[in-house]
Amino acid sequence: MATSRLLSRLTLVTAQGALRVKRRLLRPLAVKRRTTTTQINMATSRLLSRLTLVTAQGALRVKRRLLRPLAVKRRTTTTQINMATSRLLSRLTLVTGGGSGIGRAVCQRLASEGASVVVADISEESSNETLRGLPGDLRGQVHMAAAVDVSSKESVKKLVTSIQTHYFQPPSVCVHAAGITQDDFLLSMEEEVFDRVVQVNLKGSFLVAQAVAQALVAAGATKGSIITVGSIVGKVGNLGQANYSASKAGVEGLTRTAAKELSRFGIRCNCVLPGFISTPMTDKIPDKVLSKIKSLVPLGRMGDPEEVADVCAFLASDDSRYVTGASIEVTGGLFIG
Ligand SMILES: NC(=O)c1ccc[n+]([C@@H]2O[C@H](COP(=O)([O-])OP(=O)(O)OC[C@H]3O[C@@H](n4cnc5c(N)ncnc54)[C@H](O)[C@@H]3O)[C@@H](O)[C@H]2O)c1
Repeated sequence: MATSRLLSRLTLVTAQGALRVKRRLLRPLAVKRRTTTTQINMATSRLLSRLTLVTAQGALRVKRRLLRPLAVKRRTTTTQINMATSRLLSRLTLVTGGGSGIGRAVCQRLASEGASVVVADISEESSNETLRGLPGDLRGQVHMAAAVDVSSKESVKKLVTSIQTHYFQPPSVCVHAAGITQDDFLLSMEEEVFDRVVQVNLKGSFLVAQAVAQALVAAGATKGSIITVGSIVGKVGNLGQANYSASKAGVEGLTRTAAKELSRFGIRCNCVLPGFISTPMTDKIPDKVLSKIKSLVPLGRMGDPEEVADVCAFLASDDSRYVTGASIEVTGGLFIG
């Protein structure tokens, strides 16, 4: 269960070095319960810049959390330190669209943090390919692959039932990453093209969130985390994507409403808004357009699917236990205004 994101700073540290770091982290954190935030900030420590917003009480919790992953023996190797990252141990998770791009990266990230992952995609072959690449060496991990069409209520119900049959519980984390684009200009877009994109992206989000929430409530689960994937273009629009941007704006509204309705069951709902991420979906964009987009991104590049997965893992974990109804942009700063 030891969570150790700060330890990523230690990946180059030798075993002996880890002990020195441990002492350094301890020194500034050796504060009494009533120590003020200002005093904490005055403590000289580069790592403590991460703590500027923590209250005095919070600092004690942070101290415990920093200590736990650092409680390693002198001869512990860096690899072993990294393996200590397991925020999602014993969690059953469902990832739709898990056969490609962002969904696949999410599956890998959740599994690397100890979760059992159900990889679901309309392409069973892609689901299986993702499944084969998942790490499964942490305690009690059992992954499975499944086929689902998220735009079909029957198919989604069947998926959730088969998960419950397999694991004797519903998934407590669901990342709904399945999505499609079918671009055309508003003046020429066919009705079927509009409908299909809305059916997969928006109705699919509704069907998946509803089925998972119903199963969690029926099982008397005390907590859950549903994560939808919107898009920055749902906020700002995009040429040729009237259907897509409308569907993604809808996903945000759906997620906020779900957050309001489901919080009393301990189920949190949040939306991730990627910008332009390198996946098969954006492979279709002509190079000329891509370089124009890159020039608009303050961080100067496209995002990687793993960078969206990092945020999903945070929302899946208890680190985000006080976050619900939020939309988190993962855009490299694109369209911040
Ligand atoms: N790549 C980006 O730049 C970007 C930006 C913003 C939002 N998004 C969103 O992120 C999500 C993942 O996109 P990606 O870039 O990884 O795309 P991708 O095409 O690589 O992956 C999408 C996956 O969804 C699956 N899928 C499609 N229709 C489905 C259906 N009806 N039922 C089940 N699965 C289905 C596909 O088979 C595919 O495996 C999508 O919701 C997309 O809209 C992507």
